[in-house]
Amino acid sequence: QSGVITLDPGYKNTGSCESAITFLDGEKGVLRYRGYSIEELAEKADFLEVVFLLIFGELPNKEQLDKFKADIIEQSEVNDDMKTVINGFPSSAHPMGMLSSLTSALIAFNPKSVNVDSEEDMYKAIVKLLAKFPTLAAWTLRRRNDLPLENRDKDLGFIESLLKMMFAKPGEDYVADKTVVDALDKLLILHADHEQNCSTSTVRIVGSSHAGLFASISAGVSALWGPLHGGANQAVIEMLEEIKNDGGDTSKFIAKAKDKEDPFRLMGFGHRVYKNFDPRAKIIKKAADEVLAALGVDDPILEIAKGLEKAALEDEYFVERKLYPNVDFYSGIIYRAMGIPTEMFTVMFAVGRLPGWIAQWREMRLGKEPIGRPRQVYIGETLRSFKELDNR
Ligand code: SDX
Repeated sequence: QSGVITLDPGYKNTGSCESAITFLDGEKGVLRYRGYSIEELAEKADFLEVVFLLIFGELPNKEQLDKFKADIIEQSEVNDDMKTVINGFPSSAHPMGMLSSLTSALIAFNPKSVNVDSEEDMYKAIVKLLAKFPTLAAWTLRRRNDLPLENRDKDLGFIESLLKMMFAKPGEDYVADKTVVDALDKLLILHADHEQNCSTSTVRIVGSSHAGLFASISAGVSALWGPLHGGANQAVIEMLEEIKNDGGDTSKFIAKAKDKEDPFRLMGFGHRVYKNFDPRAKIIKKAADEVLAALGVDDPILEIAKGLEKAALEDEYFVERKLYPNVDFYSGIIYRAMGIPTEMFTVMFAVGRLPGWIAQWREMRLGKEPIGRPRQVYIGETLRSFKELDNR
């Protein structure tokens, strides 16, 4: 199969790994979770079914899914003292910085979830995190808007309760728009795992020291924040806004992205693995048209995005380097249409990626993998003698 790589026998303790969770074929633009195509899952599954599939390896039957949902709801209360932690941040703090800190702070209130070895204890820690992480994510937005911090409404589904925690105003009878709920469910599925990307590798390598699930996920949130990784979805919108405010001339930005003297890169373009279209970008692009039409949102930056994509795909610099739109190129346009502020886009990515991180951490721990230790090629000085201060 193209895209299959061979690793030297010593790979096991370098941070690279064998995994049975997600398969990518970058040449063919193929993405599968536990053997199921992303196209089928995005179309037919709901997010919690995909969460169960990624973590435990099989699609749940009705009894398993109902129990999984009930276990998550039961654990959804976040300790009141966590409100003291988040209220210690200025309301201007970036949500990803708050989310990483809050995920780590959860350890203090769930000490039994720190270092777990049995599958049973892992399940408890996993359910706790799946239950509380969306609340913490929503709280980062409420902190920025100086809104009171509410826990999950246990009578609502996973997505509906997340949206209510993000947007409901005090005393308001908030009901999430079904178009938004369905679109967000699909977006979270599309972000749920992506084999050994930067943040997932971070989770696995931190977890390999047995630092515990919450600490490993907190590290993954920090890695995802970078604009070359999950932070790209925020950077794409900022770039499209700049193009719009500059009169909409995409050729100027294409030229800048090609200029080796200029550090500017076309955000949302390119990928380490996909040298063809990112299959997620195709699905999200189609969903952007559908969601904006359904919500009656006419966002000029959608047309700018399509114009930029067309111009880049006709430019030999991008064609030669096989630079196509990736998952981050269109996702922000949908989030924006949903009323999610730009600085929250990467938090939404983290909520989607959480099950993938957890699945990969669990696989690494159950596989009793050794502590990861990437190797280096030493290119520094050869042996030399110490020089006294007066002789330097
Ligand atoms: C995600 O790994 C994953 O799976 C990540 C992810 C996931 O689901 O976890 O898919 C999510 O992070 C998607 C990527 C989001 N990032 C961006 O959109 C930022 C913009 N993209 C680039 O920075 C870049 O394409 C990367 C970081 C995504 C990939 O970088 P690579 O594989 O290291 O590519 P490279 O830096 O070696 O570039 C190869 C060439 C270079 O030119 P030359 O030196 O050969 O002349 O392509 C050029 C680069 O300058 N290039 C770009 C470009 N991306 C690569 N030129 C302009 N614009 C770009 N976006």
